[in-house]
Amino acid sequence: MIKINENFLNLQESYLFSTVAKKVSEFSLKNPDKKIIKLGIGDVTRPIVPAVIEAMHKAVEEMSTKENFKGYGPEQGYEFLRKKIVEDYQKRGIDLKIDEIFVSDGAKCDCGNIVDIFDINNKIAITDPVYPVYLDTNVMSGRSGKYNENTGKYENIVYIPATAENNFIPELPKERVDVIYLCFPNNPTGTTLSKKELKKWVEYAKENKAIILFDSAYEAFISEEDVPHSIYEIEGAKEVAIEFRSFSKTAGFTGVRCAYTVVPKDVCGYTSNGEEISLNKLWNRRQCTKFNGVSYIVQKGAEAVYTEEGQKQIKENIAYYMENAKIIREGLKKAGYTVFGGKNAPYIWLKVPEGLTSWEFFDKLLKEVYVVGTPGVGFGPSGEGYFRLTAFGTKESTVEAMERIQKLKI
Ligand code: MLT
Repeated sequence: MIKINENFLNLQESYLFSTVAKKVSEFSLKNPDKKIIKLGIGDVTRPIVPAVIEAMHKAVEEMSTKENFKGYGPEQGYEFLRKKIVEDYQKRGIDLKIDEIFVSDGAKCDCGNIVDIFDINNKIAITDPVYPVYLDTNVMSGRSGKYNENTGKYENIVYIPATAENNFIPELPKERVDVIYLCFPNNPTGTTLSKKELKKWVEYAKENKAIILFDSAYEAFISEEDVPHSIYEIEGAKEVAIEFRSFSKTAGFTGVRCAYTVVPKDVCGYTSNGEEISLNKLWNRRQCTKFNGVSYIVQKGAEAVYTEEGQKQIKENIAYYMENAKIIREGLKKAGYTVFGGKNAPYIWLKVPEGLTSWEFFDKLLKEVYVVGTPGVGFGPSGEGYFRLTAFGTKESTVEAMERIQKLKI
């Protein structure tokens, strides 16, 4: 009799964004005449910029010739792209080696797969609310312990609240933890940490021989000074942090798929005998075994992001989305809501009206004004009472969504 990985039964319902999509499609089937505006999942709407399209077309042509055809590429990514990534970090004064960069098909995949290289008994800390992938992949791999219906938490996971009460600045854990997930600019709250705040985490990790898994998928949206684009801007972080980045939101690659993970050689973990092992070596081994690399065509497209035109064009798209963020912030404020985020990130986090849960607010928005967002509680217990809207819609639909929300009777 085939046995299953029972850890999967310990997961809560379906993946958050699938639940949202299912509810929306059910409503839409019953109400085909209603024009639904989707500001739920953070998926881009602007087309891929011309510099990238041109590079991909060229790469397609290359694949059609005997001389330039490419079969399997390096699992870690082609050097031409990894070199550009290293140069990009250099612009911020960060020195990395090419073999510390691993190109992949998504930061979500890497954040999820990284758990392979850690012992099952490591203590995991997540901020709360949190991007669900960090939690669910630890549940799947058996690190979470049982789910407690009353608290909405898993017994072995350390939840660190980031709410309006603490200005969305998570406190250092009171107990010792081994792996800490941080995402800044934050998904879902859209808030950030200053360098000084982030430094505390790097120091904690050094003192406790812990690892920080730093998701900086939204760094391209930072507009304010003193907001770190990379954890490696903090001294000593190269010894304790792995960083995840993506072309998804930066360059509209959600459907194209390309990202990268930085695993500096100095980041170490320990065997049960206390022997120090470079995580770079383990991640490389993991990728070589389980991953066949990103397609040449896609990596050529990603390389073009770093050209002068590429940079100019992607920045125009980012500015477009950040204009939407402003429209949402101002629109919500006008309607009387308390809003957070949306200045250095494409997410706006709002307080739901008194007396409603975040799922009740979701239903109300969907059924009464046909606007889709994401309920805060879907990101963790501290997300209850909050709601997330994304700035990735079109400008027209964003404006219309705000007009509709202003009319919503609460
Ligand atoms: C989100 O809406 O949180 C993101 O689109 C999810 C993702 O990047 O996987």
